[in-house]
Amino acid sequence: MADQQRKDTGTDAGPGVGTVIVTGGTDGMGRALVLGRAARGDRVLAVGSNPAKGERLIAEAEDSGLGDRIGFLAADLSTIAGNQEVIEHVTAEYKSIDALVLAANRQFPERTETSDGLESTFALYYLSRYLLGHGLRSALAAGSNPVIVNIAGVGLTSGRIHWDDLQLQNRYRTITAQLQAGRANDLLGVAMAERFGRRVPYVLYHPGFTRSGDSAMERMNPLTRALIKTIARVAARPVEKAIAPVHEFIDSPPAVPLTAVDRGKPVSLDLETLSPSAARRLADATTELLADQPTHATRQDGSR
Ligand SMILES: NC(=O)c1ccc[n+]([C@@H]2O[C@H](COP(=O)([O-])OP(=O)(O)OC[C@H]3O[C@@H](n4cnc5c(N)ncnc54)[C@H](OP(=O)(O)O)[C@@H]3O)[C@@H](O)[C@H]2O)c1
Repeated sequence: MADQQRKDTGTDAGPGVGTVIVTGGTDGMGRALVLGRAARGDRVLAVGSNPAKGERLIAEAEDSGLGDRIGFLAADLSTIAGNQEVIEHVTAEYKSIDALVLAANRQFPERTETSDGLESTFALYYLSRYLLGHGLRSALAAGSNPVIVNIAGVGLTSGRIHWDDLQLQNRYRTITAQLQAGRANDLLGVAMAERFGRRVPYVLYHPGFTRSGDSAMERMNPLTRALIKTIARVAARPVEKAIAPVHEFIDSPPAVPLTAVDRGKPVSLDLETLSPSAARRLADATTELLADQPTHATRQDGSR
């Protein structure tokens, strides 16, 4: 969204000229992007599940003179209903959007199920991104120069999709679930780009180990968290460095349907983890899974 191409896309646009939605916008990379986009003049909506973090973000935005550009929406993105709330809110509030940045994640030490009966990592880290990408595609297509940026782990080849056990009923481990969802996001990017990428380019972005927020690790045991934080102090990248490419993707969306970047380096689209046939297989499995969900099937609002 180059400055000269930005336009007032909503009924109550402030001084911002583009509209950006950021999930996981209350902490870490998402939060830095929310503040950074607002500082560049965009109108930004941050989504997170914890209203107290939203209030802190808004207070900071007001202190920095950005209060009129930043909104917060509390929604539990691990549930189908939470994603539908976001889709309904965004489509009601904005005529169009220019960028959707997907950055919400959380690690679950034990296997937990959402109110939809789905494994929580699958639901939050993968399915939410599927639902929002599909549900907001019309609003994005109406944007002047739109883009979807999915911040996950493209370029990694560890982990896999457990086709016979997507909900990890039999083999749950935190790392297994995170890696499966990471590989699922790779395939989501491939499938979305194939279907809609000519109008709304899709970017898969791996920021690398980043000294970001603590929200994703909130449920991990305190010793593990302390250890990771200690290692991060010396080995991880600062948030501003990790998100710099995301600003570039938003400022100048790629002209091709799919872009994959791992820490600043392009990832070959021929990588096995970006297999078009596997992407179609996962898209079909996800469609089937959603068809079995009463909360989804009863609300035909374009999010499928
Ligand atoms: N940090 C790294 O080293 C690293 C490395 C590779 C990839 N990544 C990826 O980069 C992205 C951003 O990571 P980060 O480290 O910046 O995250 P973070 O600072 O830990 O923040 C996570 C965000 O997700 C939100 N969130 C968690 N559960 C949610 C839910 N159920 N509904 C709505 N929002 C929810 C949190 O807000 P609430 O607590 O309010 O819900 C918070 O805003 C993630 O996708 C992560 O997998 C990170």
